[in-house]
Amino acid sequence: MEKLRVGMIGAGFISHFQAAAIAQIRNMEIAGVTSLQGAEEFAALVRQRNLGPCQVYPNVTELTKNVDAVAIYCPNYTRIAIMEEIVAAVKAGAQLKGLICEKPLGRNVKEARRLVELAQEANLRTAYFENQLQMKPIKAQMKQLEPQQRTMGPLALVRSSEEHGGPHEPWFWDPTRQGGGVLCDMGCHSIAVGWYCLTPLGKPLTFLQPQEVSCELGLLKWGLPYWRDKLLKDRGVDYTKTPAEDFCTGMITYKNPETGQIVKAQFTNSWMFEKQGLRLFMDGMGPGYAFEINTLISPLNIFIGDAAAEAAADAESALEKATASRGLLAVQYNEADLYGYTDENAEAAEAFLQGRDAFLPLSYGLEITKLVMAAYLAAERKKTIDLTDPVIQKELETYIPAIQQGKGRDVLPMKG
Ligand SMILES: NC(=O)c1ccc[n+]([C@@H]2O[C@H](COP(=O)([O-])OP(=O)(O)OC[C@H]3O[C@@H](n4cnc5c(N)ncnc54)[C@H](O)[C@@H]3O)[C@@H](O)[C@H]2O)c1
Repeated sequence: MEKLRVGMIGAGFISHFQAAAIAQIRNMEIAGVTSLQGAEEFAALVRQRNLGPCQVYPNVTELTKNVDAVAIYCPNYTRIAIMEEIVAAVKAGAQLKGLICEKPLGRNVKEARRLVELAQEANLRTAYFENQLQMKPIKAQMKQLEPQQRTMGPLALVRSSEEHGGPHEPWFWDPTRQGGGVLCDMGCHSIAVGWYCLTPLGKPLTFLQPQEVSCELGLLKWGLPYWRDKLLKDRGVDYTKTPAEDFCTGMITYKNPETGQIVKAQFTNSWMFEKQGLRLFMDGMGPGYAFEINTLISPLNIFIGDAAAEAAADAESALEKATASRGLLAVQYNEADLYGYTDENAEAAEAFLQGRDAFLPLSYGLEITKLVMAAYLAAERKKTIDLTDPVIQKELETYIPAIQQGKGRDVLPMKG
């Protein structure tokens, strides 16, 4: 079987997760990596696990020249410079079959649009990696409920949330580098899930037309003095000066252009989730049918008593973003597959080897960025945003949320 030889840019959390996914598929191997830090360790691990020859390259240009596809797995604030280097290498003769970019595509619409344009300039096939649309539970509910949808009509309400106790690296907490707080980081997942699940069978990804967005943001935990101090001490990020939201919830209304039906998707995300680990919760209501997904329900529970917990060091070994290391814990033993990483890699490899864009091209990521920005605007203005208004559409092109500008104090109520 032909394998897509992928080169990763970045050797951090997501690169390791994607390596665990690639271990489960047959049409991709990790041919190389370049990263500011961690490249040698990552390459050694890849080779040891037989996931590909994984050479370490000194920079993006050299990597691009030596692989079939590059995957942008480095922080959000590095996107444009990295992409410009990839495109320059392609223009200079590098033969790329495709380009993968992790979510979020950009910190704002201007950045996301620039990435789309750069990919077009180099005539690249692309994949925007929004793993949750590739989750097997999502795909299975769609398949299972196909007859109900055909006879009764599509879903009318979807609620989607991703919540955990907060990210692992300081740059995620810094709104100027990451793009905001939890809405930019994880709202993009939940907004995409809502839009996708509501879309009637067989219709394109952007068939349903976004009409309105409302949103509320909160700094409910990490703005409190104890947690703020801890954040400063542990991550070097000062939320007295540049706070970001640790909670968001909102509603997006869509219109079916053929039937005129109005449907709604609610999103909720938090970095203040105090349960067993990361929870993805999605449910959908159709006329006479429904689905529900909860990733904290696993066939495997383990119990760790106090004495055993004290002997074990790593709180994250049980479940991604676990905040507890003792008691009764739910364990998802194949998170890479559950969250959709295996399927997104297999699908992208197949698409690029056939010379086409993947299921979600970068242009889809741009549409999600627009919705995320509209949600920030709604929260800042404390009013519902009309997405059909040309003035709003124009405004979103250059809008930078106050939180992303480092002015979160002006929009997030904080004590002290
Ligand atoms: N789909 C998901 O659920 C999911 C989960 C986690 C992260 N992500 C996304 O993946 C991206 C990376 O996140 P992460 O958690 O792996 O971050 P991380 O901080 O753990 O790792 C980032 C890696 O990039 C390297 N790096 C930093 N700047 C670089 C540069 N200029 N050139 C080359 N390498 C550079 C770092 O040395 C590090 O190895 C982010 O965009 C994030 O949103 C997605």
